[in-house]
Amino acid sequence: MAAPMAQVGHMMCSKTLRCFRRFSSGKGVKRKIQKSSSKVQRPIDEIIQNITSPRPVSFQQMYHLRRQEAHRSILVQIPSKKHISSVYNQVKPLGKVMNIFHFSHIRDYALIELESRAAVQRVLRSASHFSNDEKIPVESRVLLLTGGFESVGKQTIPLPVQSDPKEKFEISDCYNATGLSHQIEILYHRNHLTDLGCRLRFFVCSKLEDMLSGLFPHCAVLPFGSTVNGFGKHDCDLDMTLSLLQSEHQVGKNPNLKFMTKKRTDNERGFTQRSLQTVADIIEQFVPLCLGVHRILNARVPIIKFRNDACNIECDLSFSHISGHRMSEVLWVLSELDPRVAPLVFCVRHWARVNEVNRKHPGPWVSNFMLTALVVFFLQSHPQPVIPKLRTLYHPVNPHDDFSAPFMSDYTKVPKTKNTDDLGELLKGFFAFYSSFDFQSRGMSVIEGTTFSKPDFSPVYLENPLDVNLNVCKNINIPEFERLKKAFETALWNLETNGEKKQRAWGLMSILLPNGNGNNGKLHVHVGDLFSQRSESGNQDGNQDGNVDDHQVDNQGGNQDGNQDNVSDMRTKAEPSH
Ligand code: CTP
Ligand code: MG
Repeated sequence: MAAPMAQVGHMMCSKTLRCFRRFSSGKGVKRKIQKSSSKVQRPIDEIIQNITSPRPVSFQQMYHLRRQEAHRSILVQIPSKKHISSVYNQVKPLGKVMNIFHFSHIRDYALIELESRAAVQRVLRSASHFSNDEKIPVESRVLLLTGGFESVGKQTIPLPVQSDPKEKFEISDCYNATGLSHQIEILYHRNHLTDLGCRLRFFVCSKLEDMLSGLFPHCAVLPFGSTVNGFGKHDCDLDMTLSLLQSEHQVGKNPNLKFMTKKRTDNERGFTQRSLQTVADIIEQFVPLCLGVHRILNARVPIIKFRNDACNIECDLSFSHISGHRMSEVLWVLSELDPRVAPLVFCVRHWARVNEVNRKHPGPWVSNFMLTALVVFFLQSHPQPVIPKLRTLYHPVNPHDDFSAPFMSDYTKVPKTKNTDDLGELLKGFFAFYSSFDFQSRGMSVIEGTTFSKPDFSPVYLENPLDVNLNVCKNINIPEFERLKKAFETALWNLETNGEKKQRAWGLMSILLPNGNGNNGKLHVHVGDLFSQRSESGNQDGNQDGNVDDHQVDNQGGNQDGNQDNVSDMRTKAEPSH
């Protein structure tokens, strides 16, 4: 699966540009914004509300749009929300402001999208440095508003200041819902990655790209995973890859003049490790707001971990590994094909976290990614499939291409499903399906949407569509599998027996209580207990994750290159090739 470093950039950019040119030239499909059949507003619908261009019809278009938007944006720390008018005043003479977002994390920030990169450059040229020798004179698109406050509160801004809704999902939100499907929609609506969350993640990537572009003008820092695959949660991490040269820039205009460079002295892995070490030093030393840099370089896929403090985002940076990007494309297309896919995935992931069959850190249990794959397979195996098998979506240019090649240029051409089950029925169907699935002898293929005789003794076998010799669920061990299987059965039982809206925990509430209620999986709670349960379960979950994470980070910090645990962690976390 090793891919040349430049390939990801190429995959994203040349194809993106081709699609986008076709799109913006008016020859592409121009759809009216479709009203989703679900009442839930999906992240993509939020994007559309904020842009005037038509809805992206491919992953590449969406990706291109997001990257452009990020490169046209600046982040400004402000004393308080009411100072947004002052920032607006500073920026307005230098370029048209397209969008303004406000958010707070410890401090207040404005994310401002300008009309063009040229306008951004004008703003940066107008900014000044601190006259303080201790301050490193780095220039980036992260600024601090230190004056010009005379217009505070006086100036009216001719466009709305957007921000994220404050409320996050509370289990008590479910109580007054109209049914199980409505409960699932609420959970999804409150938890999914918002437009602002997505913009901030792309912004973090583009800022890093800027910082490295002095040495590597055509480098690309590209997000993958939950930031872009349609299944991102509001607090999801940011997985990204760095490629030093996007391949469309490999061939210059003049073949007779070449850049003189140095030769790599070590093998590709050694080069990756040393380069990441250098990048980690740069981030640590020079990149504003990026803190807590940890180098995990001896893992199978070496990565750097750090935190963007302003945006409150945990970041993982690796060198180009193309399969993560391909997989993101596959998942994004599936999430776009039907509005029920993402809410169902969210619900199953949330259920798994609360019931502790999944944890935030990697281990021998089912991961978010595996749960997504299990939901996909279930939706394909339904008597009336909700999403098609991947084989029908894939039109290889070259018959020898495998599923690791990009496969969709316009997902809107895929015929709509005839399945009309609501989300509640699908959720029960999911638990029923896996409660009786023959894990012992059957493996699952999302390429064909069918099972096959299991080739090894892994408790759960789900073929990796990007490399059919690998099992996506390889890391699940037998005890964790047994817990998962039992949890499927318990959830089904609870949904079947507590499905009606009564004066007690009903529907989704019946499966979102953490384990250990002392009833052998059978739920008997009072509504009062349920409402106080959030803080307990929040703590329980949060503390546990927090502690384990801290512990991990300590280990990583103590042993710079990561210890054995970290190596196996990374196998689960960053290496898609199981
Ligand atoms: N990935 C993969 N195969 C795996 C594990 C991961 O292809 N066995 C790819 C997927 O594209 C996945 C991405 O790597 O989306 C990032 O993995 P991870 O961070 O574990 O999952 P996310 O989908 O980002 O979900 P989360 O919100 O839990 O971070
Ligand atoms: Mg992730």
